[in-house]
Amino acid sequence: MDNGWEASAGPWIESLGAAGDFGREHVLDAPMLARVGHGRFERMLDVGCGEGRFCRMTAPRVRERVGIDPTRALLDAARARDPEGRYIEARAEALPFADASFDLVVSYLSLIDIPDIDAAIPEMARVLAPGGTLLVANLNPFATAAVPDHRITDAAGRDQLVVDRYFDERGAWTAWRGIRIVNYHRPLSRYMNAFLAAGLQLTAFEEPQPSGGDPARVARYSAAPWFHLMAWGRPVP
Ligand SMILES: C[S@@+](CC[C@H](N)C(=O)[O-])C[C@H]1O[C@@H](n2cnc3c(N)ncnc32)[C@H](O)[C@@H]1O
Repeated sequence: MDNGWEASAGPWIESLGAAGDFGREHVLDAPMLARVGHGRFERMLDVGCGEGRFCRMTAPRVRERVGIDPTRALLDAARARDPEGRYIEARAEALPFADASFDLVVSYLSLIDIPDIDAAIPEMARVLAPGGTLLVANLNPFATAAVPDHRITDAAGRDQLVVDRYFDERGAWTAWRGIRIVNYHRPLSRYMNAFLAAGLQLTAFEEPQPSGGDPARVARYSAAPWFHLMAWGRPVP
């Protein structure tokens, strides 16, 4: 199941640009990198690494970095941009690694693109060493419940998000800037219960706010938290 990613790879890379899109550059990167730290982790797996941006950013911070993604065109770009990194074609639902292979597993805005989280989240927990951390950045479910209708302009001319069928889990085609892919909407409890069922313990939860960048976008991203960030620990037996 490709869900449009192969055909969307070119426009996706273009939309990220050199620095990443607004949400990455001005909202998520700083708290994600703060949690990665410097020398805190030895072996990192980035699940759904795309064209490898976060793997590249963590190069000076983590000794060994591996990215997996099922989209070949994105992996080609990742390898070309980071010959030192290791980029492997794989799906989150069946990770080609032994148990406890990594002390840091990252999912940076990839959960909403992964079709089967009931397979993927236990896989992320399985490859995590006891005492290790699963670091997740995800789109808030009220935002994914708005896809594909997204926004309306109210009587006062304000841009408003239309949220509907929050409790109905679903995949939907969504398109922007030449990208056309399936995003999955799931209620927040679906994700939380999948992490808990995998034996993980929540150690941090953040709703990061924007810092810097275009003031109009700062205002838009400050109206409500578009993203959340979670750290889950695999307990030491
Ligand atoms: C929104 S992009 C995020 C990419 C990268 N983490 C970033 O932040 O730039 C989602 C990624 O999930 C990948 N993906 C789709 N299905 C997947 C699956 N079953 N397992 C792992 N990754 C998947 C896509 O190929 C794409 O690279």
